[in-house]
Amino acid sequence: MKKVVLAYSGGLDTSCCVAWLQDRGFEVITYTADLGQGINFAQLKKKAKRCGVKKAYIVDLKDRFLNDFVFPALKAGAIYEAKYPLATALGRPLIAEGLVAIAHKENAQYIAHGCTGKGNDQVRLEVSVAALDKRLKVVAPLREWELKTRDDEIKYAWAHNIQVEATKKSPYSTDLNLWGRSIECGVLEDPANAPPPDIYKLTKDPQKCPNKPLYLTIGFSKGIPVRLNGKDSKAVSLINRLNKLAGGCGVGRIDMVENRLVGIKSREIYEAPAATVLYLAHQELESLILDKESAQFKKQVAEKYAQLVYNGLWHTPLKAALDKFIDQTQIRLKGVIDLKLYKGNCVCVGRRSPCSLYKKSLATYDKGDKFDQSAANGFIKIWGLPYQK
Ligand code: ARG
Repeated sequence: MKKVVLAYSGGLDTSCCVAWLQDRGFEVITYTADLGQGINFAQLKKKAKRCGVKKAYIVDLKDRFLNDFVFPALKAGAIYEAKYPLATALGRPLIAEGLVAIAHKENAQYIAHGCTGKGNDQVRLEVSVAALDKRLKVVAPLREWELKTRDDEIKYAWAHNIQVEATKKSPYSTDLNLWGRSIECGVLEDPANAPPPDIYKLTKDPQKCPNKPLYLTIGFSKGIPVRLNGKDSKAVSLINRLNKLAGGCGVGRIDMVENRLVGIKSREIYEAPAATVLYLAHQELESLILDKESAQFKKQVAEKYAQLVYNGLWHTPLKAALDKFIDQTQIRLKGVIDLKLYKGNCVCVGRRSPCSLYKKSLATYDKGDKFDQSAANGFIKIWGLPYQK
């Protein structure tokens, strides 16, 4: 029998995928990666079993997600098109790794997913799967089947004895993990429309936030956040806590029109409270510690790194090489950043590091100045030499 491992969320799309694949003679094994989207393991397993799935894998990958995917991107400073902290994009190569591992374990020749033919996610999953094992064949039911609307899918589910929740589903397509939430479709498809207030789940409306600022301190070691408000914290709890704290201050709402890999522009809303705070804090720490040439060159690397992640090129030699460069720049990246969060805003109000390159004796305009101002004269003559008339 043909065996397929299906990336399964338990939603309508992937539930229909189960039935569709079974109709085509596949034995379906489902695979769900827990990246912090708040799944109820028991319920999801039950759901899969009700669709006639014999094996339903649910794997907790929260730690791996943060340590091996999110933090490398944070150290890189990777933000797509200057706005998107890449939560969804960073999850896909990890899910692909999981799918391949289960396929090997179960001796399955096929992998399936519930991505459409218009998005980035299909590319990310399939490029990674092929980079890990090109013998695995991919089936993408949503690119093939005749189910055009949500109603078509519901009818199909009923006809196949799949129970779908009676609750009216929101008109939005969303994706959630520890690093953020992505929201698209519905009225958001017109970039002229302001986002309706009810789309947000992780962030409070800035106007309704407390009238007092919230102060936070974040401690870094080797470019990775390891302390929150002076207390050592493991990755998952640090990010969870920061999402709550920053989200409660309305920090981390992003509204953008982005260029998809498949050639179309799309309007997206993101909520990324922890990511927003940590990118700012990390960058502020780098401003203190990196030398000028490294700092400026690293900006170019950040841009490229974000494009690689966005475009599904995680499992590639260039990405691996850039990681080595980035890690080299992070060796001395330790210190503490103080932040002030207030009604949707987050600013740095203090920076401290034992590895700081900032020299007060050179910068000061007060007494104790060690800068040799007389040397400036000759420097300027030579610097401006090519342009003299
Ligand atoms: N546009 C984002 C990306 O390509 C988010 C996609 C989110 N997926 C979703 N089902 N809403 O990474």
